[in-house]
Amino acid sequence: MEQNRLNFDSINDALAGPSGGLWYHATAIRRRHNLWSPYLENVKRWLLHDWQPRTKELVIFGSSAGWSIPQDFLNRFDRIICVEPDPLARWIFTRRFKCRHLEMRSENDLLPWFTPDPQRFSDFLASVPNAAVLFSNLLGQIPLLLKGEALSDSSQARAQKMFIEDLKGRSWASYHDLISCKEDSRIQSTKFFSKLPTVTELGEMYFPDGATIIDHDTTWISNDRSTSCAVWQIRPRQSHVVAFVQR
Ligand SMILES: C[S@@+](CC[C@H](N)C(=O)[O-])C[C@H]1O[C@@H](n2cnc3c(N)ncnc32)[C@H](O)[C@@H]1O
Repeated sequence: MEQNRLNFDSINDALAGPSGGLWYHATAIRRRHNLWSPYLENVKRWLLHDWQPRTKELVIFGSSAGWSIPQDFLNRFDRIICVEPDPLARWIFTRRFKCRHLEMRSENDLLPWFTPDPQRFSDFLASVPNAAVLFSNLLGQIPLLLKGEALSDSSQARAQKMFIEDLKGRSWASYHDLISCKEDSRIQSTKFFSKLPTVTELGEMYFPDGATIIDHDTTWISNDRSTSCAVWQIRPRQSHVVAFVQR
């Protein structure tokens, strides 16, 4: 009984969850050729030019249907593994892209925030020793995905430390929400930071009219790493400042 409930909840979450699902696909189909275009161009430029993994295998966490991922980028790889719990996203992805070898994984508990098992992420990475890893606009969704079950500061710090340590020696990259706001941003150009400003400073920079800023808890990913930032206007009066970090 409990097992059925868990399955139902996870399918329900994947289809209508806080970080994707039907609403996300419908918005992507409606906006990707107009309002999303500048953001999608930024992601494309970064994936094709700024991140240069020297591997022929790629894991994409949170691929969704690949709305922000260009085919030219996927063409670089002989084997692609998408980790994506949303069944509709997996179905659309397999139909949108031509990949030499594509594997779909549906687990939602591989990352350290979503499992009590300290080996889960490192065991998964050990199973794909030659793969670069791309976190595709997922890490800024963690607070949403944890819902009411926010981690304590110490569990949060432990998960972040595990994440960075498990990825050591591997080529990885992430684009993720830094802050968001129910406003349009004044800044449209890409900005490069050798040291990322604080969330308050970013809020003042991107939304100087003093609107309420949502902090997506991702500044830790930029520790000691240069970061570029671009605005993703998801819909009128809803913008996200997205960070791009690569190793
Ligand atoms: C904002 S969307 C990503 C956008 C996507 N990369 C694109 O190109 O359109 C976040 C994605 O992460 C997926 N996701 C949610 N929880 C996850 C988990 N624990 N592991 C991997 N992916 C997850 C969601 O299903 C959703 O498709």
